[in-house]
Amino acid sequence: MPKDTLTITDNRTGKTYELPIENGTIKALDLRQMKASPEDFGLMTYDPAFTNTAACKSRITDIDGEKGILNYRGYPIEQLAERSSYLETAYLILHGELPTQAQFDSWVFNVTHHTIVHENIKELMGAFRYDAHPMGILVSTVAALSTFYPVAKEVRNPRARQDQIFRLIAKMPTLAAFAYRHSVGMPYAYPDNDLSYCGNFLGMMFKMTEVKYKVDPVLEKALEVLFILHADHEQNCSTSAMRAVGSSEVDPYSAIAAATAALYGPLHGGANEMVLRMLEEIGSKDKVPAFVKEVKTSGGEVRLMGFGHRVYKNYDPRARIIKVMADQVFQLTKRNPLLDIALELERIALEDDYFVKRKLYPNVDFYSGLIYQAMGFPVDMFPVLFAIPRTAGWLAQWEEMLEDKDQKIARPRQIYLGKGHRDFVPVSERG
Ligand code: CMC
Repeated sequence: MPKDTLTITDNRTGKTYELPIENGTIKALDLRQMKASPEDFGLMTYDPAFTNTAACKSRITDIDGEKGILNYRGYPIEQLAERSSYLETAYLILHGELPTQAQFDSWVFNVTHHTIVHENIKELMGAFRYDAHPMGILVSTVAALSTFYPVAKEVRNPRARQDQIFRLIAKMPTLAAFAYRHSVGMPYAYPDNDLSYCGNFLGMMFKMTEVKYKVDPVLEKALEVLFILHADHEQNCSTSAMRAVGSSEVDPYSAIAAATAALYGPLHGGANEMVLRMLEEIGSKDKVPAFVKEVKTSGGEVRLMGFGHRVYKNYDPRARIIKVMADQVFQLTKRNPLLDIALELERIALEDDYFVKRKLYPNVDFYSGLIYQAMGFPVDMFPVLFAIPRTAGWLAQWEEMLEDKDQKIARPRQIYLGKGHRDFVPVSERG
């Protein structure tokens, strides 16, 4: 009869240990009892970038990277993208169940009625240079929100938490749209509570002199789907930042600022922006083979942006949905001429041994930028468009972390390889 245990012999001492296996893991702390000598600290694991370490137990998002499956709270992403709305999906992610009609109405009402930001935020935005990157503005202004809501510090108070969740989900689009309008020197457009979450965001972005912004239903639906696809993705870099920073019990605005900053990087949510810049640099379809060759021979220096994923070793299911949606959007807008370069890149890469061997497939960022650009969003807004919907995921993971009795303040160990003890030498005596 097989046992759910692991037997380890420490060859330094000849001692044997039996460790329990739970959920396919052993507890790292169980290794601590293994000591080479009585003074020894005990065995640790070394896992930079957490490539094989579970840092939490979660019930929110499930990814099967080999099969290319993504589920939120058990529901397949394909079904949610087709049949749900972003706010309904955000409710599901945060609460664990799809809402009843009454729960949904109350949720939408609360989010809708928290969209306005304090007027001082506009002054804060005004302090940024005209060409400031909107992601930099977003990181700063969302952090600044913590100063307007001191009650947000009460992270152990579920009621206070709920209010900040309404505010954050409601205000991220407002901050994002204001950041954009600052960069193009346009007056800020205030939220319109008659519009849907995505419709209102499009209005705050693109409204000109018209009294009432008319939302195009195709673009509104496209944005709903893109927001659903980006709503959560388990323990990625920005979510890990949210959990780690939140574990100090700082207020959620500060933790979301940290998560947004983590998302900004080109290897994470900044990749969609980098894909567009890469396609523009390639310039035309006939230059694709030369670019692919450059990627392969650069020794990892030049990357095919929008390709590869730590978890997906098949196809990213989000990329498949986006690719289909691109056709619908391009029927309405002008076809993005960069699409031909992207399709050619995908075709060549998927046949090439370098990419096949390393299991590198298009990820969510490969096609999303092409749609955003066709919808009229400038390239530097792309990571911002990732941060808005991911706020629901960050908040759900933050609450789960706070309620998890196993969690403590995040504090990894290190292997110290620096100098041993030595005495200070005054500058006048240093050679
Ligand atoms: N282009 C070319 N080679 C690549 C790429 C790429 N995009 N991604 C990975 N590789 C190679 C890499 O050089 C390495 O080769 P070798 O074994 O010869 O050294 C091998 O594939 C494994 O790569 P890795 O860097 O160890 O893989 P990782 O799991 O640490 O990195 C990743 C995952 C997403 C950071 C990486 O694939 C990458 O940099 N992709 C481009 C950026 C990107 O599109 N990011 C968005 C990710 S999806 C949205 C999100 O989560 O934010």
